[in-house]
Amino acid sequence: MDRIRIVGGNRLNGTIPISGAKNAALPLMIAGLLSDETLILDNVPRLADVAQLQRILGNHGVDIMSAGKRSGDQQYQGQTLHISAADVIDTTAPYELVSRMRASFWVIAPLLARMHEAKVSLPGGCAIGTRPVDLLIMALERLGAEIAIDGGYVIAKAPGGLKGADIEFPKVTVSGTHVALMAATLAKGTTIISNAACEPEISDVAECLNKMGARVSGAGTPRIVIEGVTKLHGARHAVLPDRIETGTYAMAVTMTGGDVQLSGARPELLQSALDVLTQAGAIITPNNAGIRVARNGAGVGPVNVSTAPFPGFPTDLQAQLMALMACASGCSQITETIFENRFMHVQELARFGARISLDGETATIDGIAKLRGAPVMATDLRASVSLVIAGLAAEGETMVNRVYHLDRGFERLEEKLSGCGASIQRISD
Ligand code: UD1
Repeated sequence: MDRIRIVGGNRLNGTIPISGAKNAALPLMIAGLLSDETLILDNVPRLADVAQLQRILGNHGVDIMSAGKRSGDQQYQGQTLHISAADVIDTTAPYELVSRMRASFWVIAPLLARMHEAKVSLPGGCAIGTRPVDLLIMALERLGAEIAIDGGYVIAKAPGGLKGADIEFPKVTVSGTHVALMAATLAKGTTIISNAACEPEISDVAECLNKMGARVSGAGTPRIVIEGVTKLHGARHAVLPDRIETGTYAMAVTMTGGDVQLSGARPELLQSALDVLTQAGAIITPNNAGIRVARNGAGVGPVNVSTAPFPGFPTDLQAQLMALMACASGCSQITETIFENRFMHVQELARFGARISLDGETATIDGIAKLRGAPVMATDLRASVSLVIAGLAAEGETMVNRVYHLDRGFERLEEKLSGCGASIQRISD
């Protein structure tokens, strides 16, 4: 199993290209199931989760062609996928595939909407809390689906097709909103989603669905209105830049010091995180090519932050912020309000000497002057990268074990960081 070895202490200087967003690419690929014509997606990141979803979609009969390199392509240019679901030959998504990636459960929405049936295994994915699917099922039932759970599978049927409905989510859910949105595009009549998630990845999917002929308005606000259509057609869409990757590298630079251009990043996708970093002492300068992040001389200041749905501070940057605060000059508090078990990185950060105490959903971090490198274990996707950030700033050697989590969500992490002067390498056993 691969490991990553880091020798900390180098400042980061240079340019890091930001890849397409994993959390938009996955639902966009799934949306390809809604049409019998080809959906072309540009700027798809090269990630293990994308490859895994390709296998899952292939099992339903979807052909996916990945275009090769073109002259003039940039070094880190995302891939272009041609997704063609002309014939859906199987409406079952088996346990062996779905259990490896939670988002693959979302295939239930296009399968039901287009094929009027789906049998999808209950999901797996990162072990951050219980992560149920009750609200996804509620939304599909509101749209007229009959749903049974049997042998670990959700079996959904809509013999006469789905029907538009009012869907009000009792809590903000990204997965619930994606599923309701995709399913409603082919339902008869109007669907109104209230208390919808406002994450930029929802807007990106809605934009692509509209290019495919859907009639969606209000995406990016808590009220999304969808007028159902009978058929969606082919389209071409470029995945938006990854705001979590952007925020992660911005935190790395704030922690190590230095000056890095995050090329292709869009500040409006993570304003709350950029504000927190400014408060912590980073100099953030949006420009035409992306965002420049620098920290020179001055130390890292403490902050108090609660995670929240967009536009609040993202839960997917919580672990990275905690690594940063571990060497702030003072005491910080970070409260996690989205997932109940998302503090697995705390005990690993403690191996670097970080002083963190937990009380329910709040972590109190007593900053220390210098972390020390250590052998650590990656536990989930975002927690893993917090250990990399800590390792970059720590004195001495850090070995991050179980890095397959990182490969699920960060494209060529070691290359991007070593290109800016970090001492980081992958060791394959
Ligand atoms: C998505 C992101 C993930 C991010 C999260 C919150 C993808 C592929 N993943 O995850 O990176 O951390 O949004 O921004 O886009 N919930 C229920 N019942 C449900 C569904 C959700 O109770 O049926 C709860 C969850 O347990 C959690 C909260 O709602 O406490 C938010 O979950 P949700 O927004 O759905 O997260 P995901 O879509 O799984």
